[in-house]
Amino acid sequence: MSTYQILVPPTILCDAGSIELLGEKVKTLGKKALIVSDKCMSDAGYVGKLQGILSKQNIPSETYLEVNGEPTDKMVYDGLDIYKNSGCDYLIGLGGGSPIDTAKAIGVMANNRGSITDYMGLGKVKNPLPPVAAIATTAGTGSEVTQFTIICDTQNDAKLLIGSPYIVPSLAVNDPLFTMSVPPKITAATGIDAFTHAVESYISKKSNPYTEVMSLSAISRISKYIRRAWANGDDLEARSQMMLASMEAGIAFSNASVTIVHGMSRPIGALFHVAHGISNAVLLPECMKFALMGAPEKFAKIAETMGENIQSLTTMEAAKKAVQAIVQLNDDLEIPTIAGLGIDKEQFFEAIPKMSRDAIASGSPANAPRKATFEQIMQIYKNAY
Ligand SMILES: NC(=O)c1ccc[n+]([C@@H]2O[C@H](COP(=O)([O-])OP(=O)(O)OC[C@H]3O[C@@H](n4cnc5c(N)ncnc54)[C@H](O)[C@@H]3O)[C@@H](O)[C@H]2O)c1
Ligand SMILES: [Fe+2]
Repeated sequence: MSTYQILVPPTILCDAGSIELLGEKVKTLGKKALIVSDKCMSDAGYVGKLQGILSKQNIPSETYLEVNGEPTDKMVYDGLDIYKNSGCDYLIGLGGGSPIDTAKAIGVMANNRGSITDYMGLGKVKNPLPPVAAIATTAGTGSEVTQFTIICDTQNDAKLLIGSPYIVPSLAVNDPLFTMSVPPKITAATGIDAFTHAVESYISKKSNPYTEVMSLSAISRISKYIRRAWANGDDLEARSQMMLASMEAGIAFSNASVTIVHGMSRPIGALFHVAHGISNAVLLPECMKFALMGAPEKFAKIAETMGENIQSLTTMEAAKKAVQAIVQLNDDLEIPTIAGLGIDKEQFFEAIPKMSRDAIASGSPANAPRKATFEQIMQIYKNAY
């Protein structure tokens, strides 16, 4: 067996009400925090709640609340200006993956020179970041526990993946009470994102015994609870299980990588401004059909973990059941097709060569158990439309 290392935040606060423990913990992170969030979090009162917790501990803070959409290089520089000009020395990302990724990227630029695009890829960040605390408000990206940040390079219409052990947050909060207000469509999109992390990390060529346990646990929880969380946002048990699952899936993919789905979905997000979870969901069934032949045993295990009855089936039959179960999950959550998102067919097909090149350049598809050629990636985009 080859050796491997596991990166996780040193502290993760879990379960309903765990945000109340934050004040004590952040006291050790620095003297003044920049809270990075979005308008929706501010309107929902979450930013005010966080400020209240900080001021109880006499911790001063500043805010950057303009992460309205998935993060861009411009948002990172705007936030960085506030961070520097107001004398902050650590960051708190509060929100879905977008504010958390923005906070991480501001942290990269606070202690490293040049532009954020210089750090695209793995292991390019030279200096450690200031401490970053990450409070998740969607059960989705797992960004609060990962070593990645994803930022849109607005000049090249491309989403950049930046990965470094320095990017793992110093403190993560997975309090499901924050997710009770997530509307059904975002519950579905973010939940399928977490499910995709779990499945991709499990089938990844870089998986290891630790990440496989995390991946399967997340697949099991999401299969049981995502429909309930989507149908009834007030279901605290379902929300709690989804929050736990998204954290497990985040730890799994942070240490085992994602594969072909994420590699192919980032270009759709960058060019057509489709929300991250949805761009994964529309590709997931076709990508899984493609990847299945590279790891039938793993797909059979996914079927079983999703609750499918695979007794008396051959490995191949069971593996195909996993793909059927994934298609059913998308249907149940009313996930549209790419055409159903209103994306023009001609424009989409014209973009396929660029998207396929960008997908391969990201390196993620190479982690899949079946190697995809440029032509095969183009075909998957066409099939998924
Ligand atoms: N760093 C990583 O490891 C990683 C992993 C996967 C995805 N991502 C990135 O994360 C971003 C997507 O994050 P996301 O899917 O969490 O979406 P998001 O952060 O963009 O949020 C989506 C919408 O949901 C709203 N929202 C968030 N929490 C809410 C709540 N509790 N109640 C009501 N509304 C709420 C937001 O205001 C926003 O309008 C993408 O840029 C993606 O590339 C990062
Ligand atoms: Fe994702």
